Amino acid sequence: MSGFIPPYPPRPTTILPIWQRVMSWRKSILEGWEERAFECDFDFLSVLGRKIFLCNSPESVQFAFSNPNGNFDHKNAQFRHSLIPLIGDSVFVAGGERWRRRRRAVTPAIHMARLPELAPAMVEIALETRARLAEQPPAAEFDMLSTMARLSLDIMGRTIFGSKLPPEDASDVISSFAAYQRHIVKVDVMSMLGLPDWLPRWYARPVRRAARKVHAILDRAIARSPRAPTGAAVTILDRLRKARGENGVAVLDLQGLHEEVATILTAGQETTANMLSWVWYLLSQAPEVEARLHAEIDRVLGERPPSLADVGQLVYTRAIVEETMRLYPPVPVMARDALADDNFNGVRIPKGSIMMVAPWLLHRHKKLWCQPDHFMPERFLPGGDEPVSKYAYIPFSIGPRICAGMAFGLTEAILCVAVLAQQFQFRLKPGHQVSLNCRLSLRPGETLPMTLHRRVSAPQSATRDTAPASAPACPFGHG
Ligand code: HEM
Repeated sequence: MSGFIPPYPPRPTTILPIWQRVMSWRKSILEGWEERAFECDFDFLSVLGRKIFLCNSPESVQFAFSNPNGNFDHKNAQFRHSLIPLIGDSVFVAGGERWRRRRRAVTPAIHMARLPELAPAMVEIALETRARLAEQPPAAEFDMLSTMARLSLDIMGRTIFGSKLPPEDASDVISSFAAYQRHIVKVDVMSMLGLPDWLPRWYARPVRRAARKVHAILDRAIARSPRAPTGAAVTILDRLRKARGENGVAVLDLQGLHEEVATILTAGQETTANMLSWVWYLLSQAPEVEARLHAEIDRVLGERPPSLADVGQLVYTRAIVEETMRLYPPVPVMARDALADDNFNGVRIPKGSIMMVAPWLLHRHKKLWCQPDHFMPERFLPGGDEPVSKYAYIPFSIGPRICAGMAFGLTEAILCVAVLAQQFQFRLKPGHQVSLNCRLSLRPGETLPMTLHRRVSAPQSATRDTAPASAPACPFGHG
């Protein structure tokens, strides 16, 4: 199986001058990367007197993101300021002791150990979405991106507050997230110049308006959400309310609670919605992969809804989700600021440098993957040789600041794909060209028009099962 090559932005063959590269990044952080960037291990460039190091090998990623000296645990100032109006100085952007305290409060609320109480809500919302789609006439056209945005927002609402946001609030949150990302500056010159983090930044009016709208909706939802009786914490909000520090005092005051709810909602909604949209797009272009997915779902689930216990059996479904995040990582670029002088393999890293790790490059690196631009979920099946290192595949980041909702996001995606693929196939609207729209996360354009088709289930004996785990033969000798 050779897979197909889904779209990616053009790669200049010559090295771009710095200013041209920075201008490309203002448009999209995925633009302006030359072919060479998909082969190099470690590189740097200087912008306005500041060094930006590109960590693009498993060793350099480990050095930057999993470094016991904690020198690179601080999120880059540009990145922090692009999120603060929406989520405040929360776990996602905070540094130092503040981050540690917030992380200790947030992690237990969304951790893998919570999945038995969270997964039923994921299935319930996916089934509701499926029922809404089933009301559509055959071959109906719809926007997959907004459908997945609504699906993941409903899951976040249900798990955070105990019930979905009211429909008008849900639409407002989705449109505000989109407006926020459209108008937030991509390259903050104050941060590039290394000006102090505490200096106030200017935000465009649509950014402020979008953030205000989301905050008002969250204030109402927090006030509405009932407190569970003692010993029966069931919502994420309840677990956050009950989080205690070592001194037994609540870690989060009302402001802190609001910030962390905004963070979990944003981090969980946007990433999953975009990733699921990419899954359906890729499946629509790869009938062999889709057939194998259907065979697995038929074998493991038949017509019954999935549960958490099935997730371990849905290995091909998981491989599709993982391969989708390899090709289209929801967070394609991450960056940290160096807190002190350091050095990597003899290269001096001055304090204040930016350490950039780009899953976008790493996941398509020519020395790390065979046929890196091809869609081939088989590479993630158990027994395969890819990824070659846990630092080569990092859609959820890695190290102490790894995504706190990784198990939540993966489980949610697998369950949602299984529920929808049980009954439907989706096809790209004829003539529609998918584009890559990279703001804070990577979307398949502004909309993703698809058509809806009921699946005609193949009899078990006629479908190819997924049980034998085979990775593709790799010309580089990886397997
Ligand atoms: C496909 C789904 C998801 C992907 C790909 C994803 C990816 C990421 C990445 C890459 C980071 C680190 C960003 C950086 O270092 O700059 C991150 C952090 C985080 N994510 Fe996720 N995420 C997903 C789903 C979720 C969900 C569902 C939740 C909550 C339920 C969540 C909560 C968080 C939190 C709280 C952090 C901050 C962790 C810290 O800095 O200590 N994420 N995520």
